[in-house]
Amino acid sequence: MNYTIEILRQRGRDAEPYRQTVRFCTDDTEMSVATLLKTLNSMADLTDANGKTVEKIEWECSCLQKKCGACAMRINGKPRLACDTKLGEFKNGAIVLEPLKKFPVIADLIVDRSVMMENLKSIGLWLEKEARHTKKGEDLAYEASRCLQCGCCLEVCPNFIPGEAFYSAASFVPTARVLSELPKKEKADIIDSYVDKVYKGCGKSLSCRDICPAQIDVEHLLVNNNAVAVWKRFLY
Ligand code: SF4
Ligand code: SF4
Ligand code: FES
Repeated sequence: MNYTIEILRQRGRDAEPYRQTVRFCTDDTEMSVATLLKTLNSMADLTDANGKTVEKIEWECSCLQKKCGACAMRINGKPRLACDTKLGEFKNGAIVLEPLKKFPVIADLIVDRSVMMENLKSIGLWLEKEARHTKKGEDLAYEASRCLQCGCCLEVCPNFIPGEAFYSAASFVPTARVLSELPKKEKADIIDSYVDKVYKGCGKSLSCRDICPAQIDVEHLLVNNNAVAVWKRFLY
């Protein structure tokens, strides 16, 4: 199968973006986009459709097993993990790779997602005392702990604008973990932040629900957070 791979490139934070197309032939339909990028970068004589030498394509990965979120990018317009996207999906051989659009580009397909960590810090999402456990709390905490902080949910959220007041699913998913583990009287500060940074801004459109590559039950966590923080139905 012949693949045509169009990549939106940017050779540095302040550089002008441009598109570059390369071709690649393989019969391995199980090859992931991550392996494709590694393979392209390993080719010494890779040229684009105009015969121009292709500089190393900058992108990030770590686990290659859907566990770290580093390889998130837009693949044919949809935010996805490169290590979890197989070439066999592209029946016509056309692949378009672009960086996530809601974050500043560092280089090519690498973006600066530090806003997500800053948002978690601003909510105060940490435990200063031993966590308390209930069966329901443990289930919620486990589900919330699977968040990769990949940012795919932020890409599709109509209400999320980096640096603005609303924090979206990448914040309310981890919040579910701490809300489920803190005793009632110690939730107050986090509840205030949650109401301010999530509840007030979320339109409940649930665009974030189907995009999550970890298949976290985002809606379930949102409903539970609102039950605890807004409707005061404490787990204990
Ligand atoms: S429910 Fe809609 S507004 Fe709320 S975080 Fe998800 S995508 Fe954004
Ligand atoms: S909730 Fe899902 S899509 Fe959003 S950051 Fe976490 S793992 Fe990624
Ligand atoms: S490299 Fe870790 S999720 Fe893809």
